[in-house]
Amino acid sequence: MSENEWENEREDTQEEAQAETKESGDESKNEESLFICTANRDFAAYAQEELRRLFGSVKSSILSDREVLLVKLNVSSEEAVRKIADSRPIFLRHIQPVQFERTGENAGELLGEAAAFVSETGLLHAGARAALQVRKSEGAGGDGVPQLKEWAEELLRASEAEFVTADADWIVSIYLTADAVYAGVSRPEDNLSDWSGGAVRFRREEGQLSRAKFKLLEAEREFGLDLSAYRSAVDIGAAPGGWTSLLLERGLKVTAVDPAKLHPSLLKHSNLTYIRKNASEVKFRDNEFDLLVCDMSWSPKLMVQLVGDLLHALTPGGTAIVTIKLMHKKPMALIKEVIASFENSRLQVQRAKQLFHNREEITLYMIKY
Ligand SMILES: C[S@@+](CC[C@H](N)C(=O)[O-])C[C@H]1O[C@@H](n2cnc3c(N)ncnc32)[C@H](O)[C@@H]1O
Repeated sequence: MSENEWENEREDTQEEAQAETKESGDESKNEESLFICTANRDFAAYAQEELRRLFGSVKSSILSDREVLLVKLNVSSEEAVRKIADSRPIFLRHIQPVQFERTGENAGELLGEAAAFVSETGLLHAGARAALQVRKSEGAGGDGVPQLKEWAEELLRASEAEFVTADADWIVSIYLTADAVYAGVSRPEDNLSDWSGGAVRFRREEGQLSRAKFKLLEAEREFGLDLSAYRSAVDIGAAPGGWTSLLLERGLKVTAVDPAKLHPSLLKHSNLTYIRKNASEVKFRDNEFDLLVCDMSWSPKLMVQLVGDLLHALTPGGTAIVTIKLMHKKPMALIKEVIASFENSRLQVQRAKQLFHNREEITLYMIKY
């Protein structure tokens, strides 16, 4: 996104932000907090806009090109975390508190000082489970991230906490740049994502049909869904078949609709019905499916219309998971428009999120009422 586009969208929301600043002005007097905020590449300005809508003035600087920002907020850390979590941001993927900051050029010394700070918090005591998340910006000295992480763990060995990669009580976040280190210790639920930088990594399986499968896997986790709890799904825009293959693995009956070819490995699956057509040409019975997924990578307006036309086939209470391509110049306005159209067609939006595996798009999780 260019500077100008960012400025245009800012202008649209200026009054809104001023009103919000006034409202929240008194309660947060004299308080400040510092966070490292991460969004998907090219969408950091929108994550920043989400923060501005929440907090009014937001001072930020770029730590890593196009995705990681150092952000100063005019409220306490606790209040910032609560407000951010309650607002369920779309573009802001991950936050980590900065409780310790030191400048310098020697990566080893900086890491040592950050580790000393973490030890002094006293939070990594015997019985505590801690996840150590180390990141660095381009140009930061020292070794690669895995080595830095090993090094930091070595420095923290004197603490008696157990170092884990999942289900931690505490996350220790260390971010190294060419001339500074930033560190903080937080509860996993306070970081928006318990993955380092919100980067949800899945192992690529042998024979995996498309990277798109990761989007649905991530949506399942992020939205707290259990795909195996559904009975029958329609997958609109299914080819080459990543989403369809995941739904089949979860035990659902799947109707895949796409004029393009599904991968041959799927075609013999007994739970698959493949309709090789444009979705605007298919007819379904009412309430045929309890899950509708659509990853058409198409004009949002046409996608909304197409999904709306097929919605009678989704049972009331059924779930829809849909990606919206952000081809528009003003993504926030576009998202608002799409959500309003879906809500007019009896789809209640539960969550809207730019997932780590989304590129120029976001994912909506909706329920039909
Ligand atoms: C991004 S791909 C989908 C990837 C898929 N989710 C996967 O996991 O492999 C988009 C697909 O939408 C299909 N598509 C586009 N417009 C369509 C329409 N009107 N009806 C059905 N499929 C459509 C395209 O043919 C293409 O195969």
